[in-house]
Amino acid sequence: MTLTRRHTLKLGLGTVASIGVSAGCSPHGKQHLQALDNPNQDFTVTGKGSLKQRAAAKGLLYGAAGNYPTLSEDAQFAALFAQECGILVPENEMKWSFLRPTPDTFDFTQADWLAKFARSHNMLLRGHTLVWHQQLPDWFNEVVNQQNAEQIFVKHIETVVKHYAGQMHSWDVVNEGIAGAYNTGRSDRLYDTPWLRFLGKDYIDLAFRVAAAADSKAMLVYNDFALDYDIPRHNDSKAAVLKLLEYLKAKGTPIHALGIQAHLNGSETQFNPNQLRQFLRDVASMGLKILITELDVEDKNLPAAISIRDRRVASVYKDYLSVVLDEPAVIAVLTWGLSDRYTWLSQFNPRPDKLPVRPLPFDANFNRKLAWNAIAQAFDHAPKR
Ligand code: XIL
Repeated sequence: MTLTRRHTLKLGLGTVASIGVSAGCSPHGKQHLQALDNPNQDFTVTGKGSLKQRAAAKGLLYGAAGNYPTLSEDAQFAALFAQECGILVPENEMKWSFLRPTPDTFDFTQADWLAKFARSHNMLLRGHTLVWHQQLPDWFNEVVNQQNAEQIFVKHIETVVKHYAGQMHSWDVVNEGIAGAYNTGRSDRLYDTPWLRFLGKDYIDLAFRVAAAADSKAMLVYNDFALDYDIPRHNDSKAAVLKLLEYLKAKGTPIHALGIQAHLNGSETQFNPNQLRQFLRDVASMGLKILITELDVEDKNLPAAISIRDRRVASVYKDYLSVVLDEPAVIAVLTWGLSDRYTWLSQFNPRPDKLPVRPLPFDANFNRKLAWNAIAQAFDHAPKR
């Protein structure tokens, strides 16, 4: 069963409305949740390597989303980030609401700071995101119309991609074009966004073409969520994503990879390894790479006891990663944050009992959790690329 949460909150320069988060609720209550716990799992890890080192040993990349306020102000966190991550993706700073103070100007200050932080710590950099219907600037709805939409769209992509040309490992060119198949008015299940309304379905193809012309080196990614579980909405979403990717490949769109957000849910039981493997194989068979771009494990509906919660979160990481890392087309894993001290879930999916959420590999004091061990183990067991 899946709950759809609609959030509206004011956020720095922009407004985020209705971000869909898969929040599989607990149909059988407390007992069902306790039954998810398996105290006998072995999360032992050998050796001293960081997550990035363990990933690199298998030809994989590990990294995380990081943001300007925390990395620039919390030196201990910045050091941990540099130690563990081989790739950084700005959590917010390359979104329209941050880059576009006015229709005629660009402000790269915070995004550039993060690019420099990555460079100075020998990390690769991912861009997130050129096209999305969330975190648009306040002026967007007043300014953008049928007449100027294409020009504004193209100019944004061109300017931003050129600004980082040669520095980007990969770009999330279009984010959430299907958006969990939430509004299903169309047979292709494309989400009703301003870009779809003004430019039609081929806004996606156009975005990739403009990005490719502006940077011939970056890997160009289509990124989406709700692709993880064997539940109706995720299955609709997987089918729609496959159709979209086939459509783009047939058109000759310069798309190189699928980004799977993988915002997982600690209390969701409908994880179907074979079905997920098949989905990954279908994507790979189109000649596309796969990146796990925003991995975290929501603990909102898990029991309060930290030992049980951490064990369940860790086993979700382990089960998920052991499946996806078996697929050779998967080249990178990024968590959406690194430490529970800084996670979007404390705002977007808080626990009803108000206890701090624990979705990430490090706790709020920067100690490794079982989740760290689970990720380390998954890299250690992954076949070499
Ligand atoms: C989230 C950020 O983590 C928050 O700080 C921000 O307030 C809202 O956006 N899918 C995405 C990300 O593609 O950009 C979102 O990031 C999380 C869901």
